[in-house]
Amino acid sequence: MGKKITIAIDGFSSTGKSTIAKLVAKKYNFIYVDTGAMYRAVALFAMEHNFIGEDFIDKAGLITKLKDITLSFHFNKEAGFAEMFLNQRNIEKEIRTLEVSQYVSRIATISEVRRKLVSEQQEMGKLGGIVMDGRDIGTVVFPEADLKLFMTASADKRATRRYKELIEKGDNVSYEDILFNVQERDRIDSTREDSPLVMADDAIEFDNSDMGITAQFNQICVLIDAIIL
Ligand code: DC
Repeated sequence: MGKKITIAIDGFSSTGKSTIAKLVAKKYNFIYVDTGAMYRAVALFAMEHNFIGEDFIDKAGLITKLKDITLSFHFNKEAGFAEMFLNQRNIEKEIRTLEVSQYVSRIATISEVRRKLVSEQQEMGKLGGIVMDGRDIGTVVFPEADLKLFMTASADKRATRRYKELIEKGDNVSYEDILFNVQERDRIDSTREDSPLVMADDAIEFDNSDMGITAQFNQICVLIDAIIL
């Protein structure tokens, strides 16, 4: 087996980062960490404790309760990936709703939240052999990553993909709401003061608007093989 490297995958919402990351982790036997799930878990906690709602956010209240949040991933053999747990509760399904998507970007602007999650992510990746996806992995979490990928696609393509996923799950959502959410998250994620979504100087950009998963995966494997073999 080759070297246990660190791979950072960043990019906009719904660009297929996690699909690629899971495939890479499986092929190379690396650990996959979905950092978006961690921000979603904190958003769910904030919703459940009334720290965020449609027209308010109680940042100070949430910050004092951050110490009560324990996040962990547990591998689900059947699903083939690790599911997100919040204080020992499996929340994998709950964090994928449009409602959580609508609050999560605002939660992710809070520096105290970022500091807590970034340090946990650095701990998980300290031995290498890791594929992590998010918004700030190549810039903040692992600036020394061996390989940095930056995924983009048109907002329409991304909203269409996300819409299909949610409809297949049986969620009652409209395409317009999804498109608005994707664009709104791009805006908040790219303009926040702390660790905004930007491409690292040494990242390789993939625009997958018109590219299938297999083609992308094959190109990425060539890049990885060149590093580990
Ligand atoms: O990858 P995702 O769509 O599940 O991420 C949800 C939100 O979490 C995203 O809109 C911004 C935030 N996020 C972040 O700020 N930094 C990360 N490393 C990952 C996600």
